[in-house]
Amino acid sequence: MKRIGILTSGGDSSGMNAAIRAIARSAISAGLEAYGINYGFAGLVAGNIRKLDSSEMDGVIDRGGTLLYSARFPEFAQEQTQLKGIAQLKKFGIDALVVIGGDGSYHGAERLTQHGFNSVGVPGTIDNDIPGTDFTIGFDTAVNVALDALDRVNDTATSHQRTFVVEVMGRGAGDIALWAGIAADADAIVIPEREYDIKEIAEKINRNYANGKQHGLIVLAEGVMSAADFKDKLDEFSNFETRAITLGHVQRGGRPTAKDRVLATRFGDYAIRLLLEGKGGLAIGIHDNQLVATDIIDTLENHKHQTDVSLYDLNERVRF
Ligand code: F6P
Repeated sequence: MKRIGILTSGGDSSGMNAAIRAIARSAISAGLEAYGINYGFAGLVAGNIRKLDSSEMDGVIDRGGTLLYSARFPEFAQEQTQLKGIAQLKKFGIDALVVIGGDGSYHGAERLTQHGFNSVGVPGTIDNDIPGTDFTIGFDTAVNVALDALDRVNDTATSHQRTFVVEVMGRGAGDIALWAGIAADADAIVIPEREYDIKEIAEKINRNYANGKQHGLIVLAEGVMSAADFKDKLDEFSNFETRAITLGHVQRGGRPTAKDRVLATRFGDYAIRLLLEGKGGLAIGIHDNQLVATDIIDTLENHKHQTDVSLYDLNERVRF
């Protein structure tokens, strides 16, 4: 193996640059050449590929976004398009590909592996919804961005004795809502993985006001419904004033936390070490703080991300 390719795909997440840096630097220090593919799988098919220098990796570990840019490219589900991608990789003499991204990106890497092109998936998404890992790159930063917003909302909510419904991202997973919600002392966390009763939530917040609490906070995962719709339903049962806000894409940007930078560096280096050992077709992950690598096809076909719903019960015990 002489050359490895790197691409980022799907929704970006803070820490992707740290992963690119680690992959490129570990490859170069092992005597390999690293090639960056711009604009994800779309750029791969178009042959938008360039050699990466080690010096280019200076000053990127603290930057949000991805220096290789990203794209959603559903066309990559078609076999013809996948074969065009492989042809480009061969044209540039690339022997293995490291894909940093979420669910859709992993499926792209899985397809290439099924066609016999060695591809490794590094989990990068704020949603934390990838099977085969406890944590994904960008999740911790997104949680901290959401938490900062929730702390601020709690201030103004208290001044006005209001309740806020704050919708956070996560696609179909409630991980961001759970972590940010517990840390922000939310009265209720509403996630797709658990049943909820809006009347009960309203009654709980009514009780809290009656006991002297000056505000209410509901953290809502986007996979349940929109904050505006939730507020409308809540208004039917509440005797308090409610505002609804959606945090949106701010959760995807900004300086990655130390945790995300270190996680990305560990993942990136591990991907290269596995490739150097002649291993491939793998999904990289972390389980109980140990780096793990599982078969990418089996991981995607037979496993599902498990949200840690014990956190939901924890919040119910400490915020009754
Ligand atoms: O997967 C990351 C994510 O930010 C999700 O949380 C969200 O549902 C989606 O991407 C938003 O996608 P887009 O950037 O295409 O609007």
